[in-house]
Amino acid sequence: MEYRQRPAMGNSLRFKVFFSFMLLTVVLLAILNTYPVSRMRNQLILAREVEMRSDFGAFSAALESASAFDYETAATALSILDVGREQRVLVTDASGRVIYDNLKTSDLIGKTALFSEIIEALSGKDVFRCTYNIEAFNYRTACAVIRDNTVVGAVYAYQYDSGSADLLRETREEILQISIAVTAVTLLFIVTFIISLRRRFDRVLAGVYQVQEGNYDYRIDLHSSDELGIIAGEFDKMSDQLAKNESIRRQFVSDASHELKTPLASIKLLCDSILQAREMRVEDVREFLGDIREEIDRLTRITEGLLYISRMENGAPMDGICDLTHTLVRSTDMLQGNAAQMEVEITYHDLPEMAYVSGNPDMIYQVVFNLMENAVKYNRRGGKVQVALEVRDDQTLLHVADTGIGIREEELERIFDRFYRVDKMRSRETRGTGLGLSIVGQCMEAIGGHIEVTSTYGEGTCFTAYFNNAPEEEPFEEEEGGNS
Ligand SMILES: Nc1ncnc2c1ncn2[C@@H]1O[C@H](COP(=O)(O)OP(=O)(O)OP(=O)(O)O)[C@@H](O)[C@H]1O
Ligand SMILES: [Mg+2]
Repeated sequence: MEYRQRPAMGNSLRFKVFFSFMLLTVVLLAILNTYPVSRMRNQLILAREVEMRSDFGAFSAALESASAFDYETAATALSILDVGREQRVLVTDASGRVIYDNLKTSDLIGKTALFSEIIEALSGKDVFRCTYNIEAFNYRTACAVIRDNTVVGAVYAYQYDSGSADLLRETREEILQISIAVTAVTLLFIVTFIISLRRRFDRVLAGVYQVQEGNYDYRIDLHSSDELGIIAGEFDKMSDQLAKNESIRRQFVSDASHELKTPLASIKLLCDSILQAREMRVEDVREFLGDIREEIDRLTRITEGLLYISRMENGAPMDGICDLTHTLVRSTDMLQGNAAQMEVEITYHDLPEMAYVSGNPDMIYQVVFNLMENAVKYNRRGGKVQVALEVRDDQTLLHVADTGIGIREEELERIFDRFYRVDKMRSRETRGTGLGLSIVGQCMEAIGGHIEVTSTYGEGTCFTAYFNNAPEEEPFEEEEGGNS
């Protein structure tokens, strides 16, 4: 896939994962190849030291307590104590001259053996030394022989141990082989992991690019439950929402253009009729102008409704406190003219003196006015509108019931859609734009309430709006405004 922006090599996620894995592997293998081997070597030396010190301590003690200090005594003590079979054992006198050597073919007897260990032993110290190379361990130990509080000689033992060195080397080689196998498997795993990560990552990125280009129908469909799968899933949900919003936006633009086009076409037609008529009576011209004015009024109502919706979508203030009783009375006053025209009677039930609810007063006015206006508008001549307030613990319910034309079951869920009108002809007569209930729905959502509707076709409709009661202690500040 073609990347629009490539991360720098050192910054790339793949590099970081690879580097971290490899670093971890190298450190682990380095520890595995040094620590156990060095610990094993130290253990071997320690065990040997304990053994040699104890053996030759006992040997020197036997020499100290023996009647004589000569070749025979040393040979007898060595054989009785059963020590020094794998070692070269020397016994010297106080001047470092060898008086005993367990090597049968020795030519050292009678000669001075001034090894550093013997010199140190003659000065009264117990010495143990070990040198190690890949071939063998070289152990050396020496201790003084003290008779009558005088150092009369020294015991020196030397051992060349290639068996333990072989064991150590084999162990090291085995660990190395295991390490190589582990590194190979780890490398294979990392490379596979990085390739799969890259593929999955590319799919997510492809989704991002597609959505950036406006293709909201593209879905990543990663089907995995790891973090990348969750991101992809959430991204697909976001694309769903964007696709939905885009389709609503397109529909809205198309509906709005259509709604604006119809009155404009009528105005053009009416103007053309006036302009094309050779002669026209003043009364006819006035009638045409009256029609034009009505269409202009309609355009004004549509644009006012659209502006109100746009203001809400752009975050108009939703907070505040409003007295529902007062708003109801105000709306009724505004609608008295229409009601009288339709011979509709507006009556109240259970209206408390005050009913404070939460929400921007202008939005609440829009809700009350639109519901009552519809109840009057879609009523029959001589019908009734019954308004009631039901105050509950947390909520106040506004019921607006009418004895009007009613709404069919299948239409009920659409009446809150923008520009939706059940009967376009009647709506046109009543100058409806189809925006009223959509504004009501949006206002209720904004102030945290909701609205329900029940209707019997041909008999009447009842809208119930649920408002949240205002907190009691807050002071009431009325800031009503707006008009439908
Ligand atoms: N009380 C009601 N009785 C019967 N039908 C109703 C009632 N209220 C709304 N309607 C139907 O729902 C449709 C949508 O109502 P809405 O208030 O959104 O638009 P409108 O009244 O046509 O126009 P506007 O309110 O913008 O002037 C109306 O056209 C009408 O068909
Ligand atoms: Mg309306």
